[in-house]
Amino acid sequence: MQRTLVIFKPDCVQRRLVGQILQRFEAKGLRIAALKMIQVSKELGEQHYAEHKERPFFPGLIRFITGGPVVVAVIAGPEAVAVVRGMMGKTSGIEAAPGTIRGDFSVSKQNNLIHGSDSPESAAREIALWFQPEEILDYDLAGQDWVAES
Ligand code: GTP
Ligand code: MG
Repeated sequence: MQRTLVIFKPDCVQRRLVGQILQRFEAKGLRIAALKMIQVSKELGEQHYAEHKERPFFPGLIRFITGGPVVVAVIAGPEAVAVVRGMMGKTSGIEAAPGTIRGDFSVSKQNNLIHGSDSPESAAREIALWFQPEEILDYDLAGQDWVAES
């Protein structure tokens, strides 16, 4: 079982797509381990996207991610990092394949609706940045044996 951090970005909240996209993760067989809505501070946004600090789009990216509330989740399941990245599609909604979240709902490089950790190492760093340990729940789901072998 692996954990990954997913952010439903401000455009996702504003476009009222949170429920529809969260539903895709549930339907896939992944588990919601933590979920909350927050207003991202400049500090948190800058820490989260620290790897892009020198990029020309960084100031706009920080304005975007702090521009309205986000919903943030820890999603768990077998190979959750790679599974979620695959479901998201390429960064740009223009290039992302139909059937992926960005391919189906975005035509923008920046306003691409969701974030997903890009490696297990990034997931560990990001989960610790966004959640307190006690906010992340480990629980049984009825019928789990029908979803994946343990
Ligand atoms: P995240 O899951 O949000 O990290 O997206 P990603 O891993 O697919 O892309 P990356 O980490 O390279 O970029 C982080 C975010 O910056 C993207 O999701 C976009 O919102 C934004 N971004 C990336 N490249 C560009 C760009 O060329 N122009 C603009 N305006 N925004 C960009
Ligand atoms: Mg990224």
